[in-house]
Amino acid sequence: MTATGTSSAPNATAQAITATGLRKSYGDKVVLDGIDLAVPEGTIFSLLGPNGAGKTTAVKILSTLISADAGGIRVGGHDLAADPQAIRAAIGVTGQFSAVDGLITGEENMLLMADLHHLSKSEGRRSAAELLERFDLVDAAKKPASTYSGGMKRRLDLAMTLVGNPRIIFLDEPTTGLDPRSRHNMWQIIRELVSDGVTVFLTTQYLEEADELADRIAVLNDGRIAAEGSAEELKRLIPGGHVRLRFTDPAAYQSATSALREAARDDEALSLQIPSDGTQRELRSILDWLDTAGIEADELTVHTPDLNDVFFALTGGANVPNQPKKAVR
Ligand SMILES: Nc1ncnc2c1ncn2[C@@H]1O[C@H](COP(=O)(O)OP(=O)(O)OP(=O)(O)O)[C@@H](O)[C@H]1O
Ligand SMILES: [Mg+2]
Repeated sequence: MTATGTSSAPNATAQAITATGLRKSYGDKVVLDGIDLAVPEGTIFSLLGPNGAGKTTAVKILSTLISADAGGIRVGGHDLAADPQAIRAAIGVTGQFSAVDGLITGEENMLLMADLHHLSKSEGRRSAAELLERFDLVDAAKKPASTYSGGMKRRLDLAMTLVGNPRIIFLDEPTTGLDPRSRHNMWQIIRELVSDGVTVFLTTQYLEEADELADRIAVLNDGRIAAEGSAEELKRLIPGGHVRLRFTDPAAYQSATSALREAARDDEALSLQIPSDGTQRELRSILDWLDTAGIEADELTVHTPDLNDVFFALTGGANVPNQPKKAVR
């Protein structure tokens, strides 16, 4: 599956990153078994998958740090096989494990990055100062990075990634270990980057993070892309969505149960669950049907599966807890 743009503007579907038939094995362990990816410019793409699925491997390959066994890759308009150097110049990478050097200060870490990007002394200082400010690290800038908290190190990591203004950034689990507020701050920063037109390739263990941020999500499992789409599309892929009707009058509940034989019953809660994909069309037909049958519930709620359900369904094997709430059959 590939991303499909709805706009007809010429650049609307320009791809920042594409990979076709990407393969990588370590010994006889196949990590990536021929995966295809396409990330349109200025969007956030999230790669999800259980531990060991190959997310970091994919990031390292796409960012030229390790080579693939096979596959075609283009990043920022450059072919990886032909011109990896041009790709390196166009991207920024925040690895899963910190690139921060603890022995030197936050500011010195930033200036080191500026040097690596061949910025002039004054340009390097300007860029470092601006990013330290943006990431709320001014007070800590002159202290050794080893004294930073995990969240501060993560912010410094991302600040270092942004030196040189890369148009495409790879973030491998950027918020792992951050507290909820720091995570939200990081999300805000990522959104600002994207609104400036930056493309973000993100891996995460936090499904709500992908849900919040990503335009498109791919779930990596067993070396392949098990599913790809927007969060909404993925949620519709798996069962678990339903409409719940709750009654207060036992007599009304009883008559509803005899009219709706297919619905799952919860006699204690006087409620019925009708499987539904949650689309407007299906809701309308359920409502019409209830009207025709003369059923009037006191409460009607629509439940759509969340990304956790999707993740378990796609990566967990057969026994899928896709209805964590009590579902009576
Ligand atoms: N240099 C290496 N040599 C041998 N095996 C490796 C190497 N790097 C990764 N692997 C293996 O490749 C698989 C994928 O690893 P990878 O780090 O890409 O997973 P991941 O999806 O990023 O996992 P996590 O969520 O834990 O970060 C794992 O089985 C790992 O053990
Ligand atoms: Mg990883």
